[in-house]
Amino acid sequence: MFERPASGERAILVCVGLGRAPEPDRVEEFGALARSAGAQVLDVLVATRKSADPRFLIGSGKVEELRARVAALAADLVVIDGALSPSQERNLEKELQCRVLDRSGLILDIFAQRARTFEGKLQVELAQLQHMSTRLVRGWTHLERQRGGGIGLRGPGETQLETDRRLIGKRIKTLNDRIEKVLQQRETTRQERKRQEVPTIALVGYTNAGKSTLFNRLTRSDAYAADQLFATLDPTVRRLHLAPGLETALADTVGFVRDLPHELVAAFRSTLQEAREADLLLHVIDASDPERNDRIAQVDEVLESIGAQGVRQIAVYNKIDRTGEPPRSETGADGRIDRVWLSAHSGLGLDLLLQALHQALGADLCRCTLRIPPRAGRARARLFAAGAVISHKTLADGVVEAEISLRRQDLERICREDGIELPTANAPCADEGRFLQSNDSLATRGAA
Ligand code: GTP
Repeated sequence: MFERPASGERAILVCVGLGRAPEPDRVEEFGALARSAGAQVLDVLVATRKSADPRFLIGSGKVEELRARVAALAADLVVIDGALSPSQERNLEKELQCRVLDRSGLILDIFAQRARTFEGKLQVELAQLQHMSTRLVRGWTHLERQRGGGIGLRGPGETQLETDRRLIGKRIKTLNDRIEKVLQQRETTRQERKRQEVPTIALVGYTNAGKSTLFNRLTRSDAYAADQLFATLDPTVRRLHLAPGLETALADTVGFVRDLPHELVAAFRSTLQEAREADLLLHVIDASDPERNDRIAQVDEVLESIGAQGVRQIAVYNKIDRTGEPPRSETGADGRIDRVWLSAHSGLGLDLLLQALHQALGADLCRCTLRIPPRAGRARARLFAAGAVISHKTLADGVVEAEISLRRQDLERICREDGIELPTANAPCADEGRFLQSNDSLATRGAA
């Protein structure tokens, strides 16, 4: 019977390059990931091999070196930047006499620590159990729950592993059922947003790019932002009021990272679906990151894998307070803004982003004067609720004359459903006597 060694926070990292040395940015990113999990990184070893060793992944010489380092530094955790098979993980633990984790195990641990909402917790637990279930082998199931945990030991807890596969399978099923219910609820709210034609903007980006900070800045909410990878694990959807009559839903999504474990991609499918079904993606990029182009490519890769490659994107180069660049925006071939440089932290350049959002989503915003008869109280209430009323006055006959700004299809629907006469493009309106395109009004607002 083999008992796994206890885990802790004193870690040695091993970056493995197959065929060639691992790239320096990869080594650095792995260090950041480990620190995100709360590890105290004592040393980083680099191993280059022609091909993976079936017993240990790394060569036996490297295992020797590692064993000496573990003993000398009194490390209690070794984290390998690669995918270990269950038997490789076990062989290494036997040789090194300390806990060994691979990249997926590390990322899962970070997710377990960060998940905050009910849905996020369920998703992470499911991913962890699925990851563990592949590591449940005969003679290796006698595991003790570690008091206080340690990296790789948080989440469902190892008592689950003391039981047999049948129990784990049962728990996975329960989690799947619960997640399915949450998914249905989310789908209902998404459908409701669609029905009300509230466009959705989803924030996507490499982990730590600043999505939550931008989300907070835009919605003035207090969604969690911390200088740790994966601070956000739960999609948060909040209302974003862009202009009178232009309400949108802003969704924060999980941070992307290269080689996201497939268990997690599956578990977070509902979060990622928010991106696929969005009307617009804000791709947040850390402009101060020297590897930003690589990160952009990795995010695009994940977007493609979830079928969101067709959704229009605005690239948001964040953290310009660090790079010293001035805020600016650039337009794409279609004449619309598709890149903005800003600082979510200081708010510098935020107006340019709002302008871009307005341009992207407010194209059919129209402005006119409506005469709402006293019988159409419901329409009046709906217009106020949509934030579409810029000004209004009640005339002697009880008719409310209101200056409205609303997306054309919404205005048409409300007028049709409540029997109000819709001013046509040629009908005299109080201000301009025609529908105003949002771009016109925006140009004035932007210039002001
Ligand atoms: P994950 O949840 O890990 O995916 O991260 P995220 O993309 O949501 O990043 P978050 O908003 O948590 O920000 C990560 C770190 O970057 C935090 O320490 C923020 O304070 C910092 N940050 C965000 N925006 C800016 C910025 O404009 N300037 C500077 N200097 N720091 C920023």
